[in-house]
Amino acid sequence: MRIDIITIFPDYFGPLGVSLIGKAAQRGDIIFGVHDLRSWAHDPHRTVDDTPFGGGPGMVMKPEPWGEALDAVTAAAGSSSATGAATGAARLAADGRGSAADPDLDRELQPGQQQDDGPQLIVPTPAGVVFTQAMAGELARASHLIFACGRYEGIDARVVDEARTRMPVREITIGDYVLAGGEPAVLVMIEAICRLIPGVLGNAESATDDSFGAGDGTMSGLVEGPAYTRPRTWRGLDVPKVLLSGDHAAIARWRRDHALRRTAQNRPDLAARLPHAALSTRDRQVLSEAGFAVSGEDVAH
Ligand code: 6GU
Repeated sequence: MRIDIITIFPDYFGPLGVSLIGKAAQRGDIIFGVHDLRSWAHDPHRTVDDTPFGGGPGMVMKPEPWGEALDAVTAAAGSSSATGAATGAARLAADGRGSAADPDLDRELQPGQQQDDGPQLIVPTPAGVVFTQAMAGELARASHLIFACGRYEGIDARVVDEARTRMPVREITIGDYVLAGGEPAVLVMIEAICRLIPGVLGNAESATDDSFGAGDGTMSGLVEGPAYTRPRTWRGLDVPKVLLSGDHAAIARWRRDHALRRTAQNRPDLAARLPHAALSTRDRQVLSEAGFAVSGEDVAH
């Protein structure tokens, strides 16, 4: 997968060189290009914003630098401009326009790798649709994502309108709170997406029992329960005995009970969406003991 990020704060993306995603970038499984929007602003002050038509507070990002940036990044995907995240924040921050052809871009498709389906634009904005695990899974199958980080009061709306004429565009929010800019939201989305790319997670199974993960379906729609490791006793607190029992059925049941309890207590919105047919009598008992009113034939109308 290739990921381009256009931002006025390229330094913000140094963390992409770290941890699982940094390693995936080092291997060439993900190719990052971080681009400074101001390199497409041509006045002496490299101006990227202006006052809003119609009045109101704040500034709006001008369309011209964005148009040129998107032209360059979409064109470059077929020629040059990737910068490996593993080379660190400084190289990441350097705009790659006009750089020598990157051998990464000429690599052949690996078995199982996504065929090139062209670029998709993602615009982080509190006015977007809410990012979900399902969306992360869809985007993990894309071959080229471009993230356009807006600041101030957003980007001139014609930029998205024009981009939609030539590529799929999604406006996405990561939740109901306001950030000063899209950059932290893009880091969040990239982490959620990239850990679902085959080979990026160390243990292929680690994603299957995630909270919200579909996996084999057994924990689907539930948040994760608690986890323990050594020592067996710590500060007078024992690890639950069942986890030491070797009884795999009992352990699975215990884990499901706790996942159900936590979902009922912390995420009644998720608990309410659990498919009734997929809940056993035991599941319903656990949910009702946790204070969650299970709807269905057990409840008086
Ligand atoms: Cl994607 N952008 C901004 N500025 N704030 C947000 C957000 C995005 N998602 C939640 N809050």
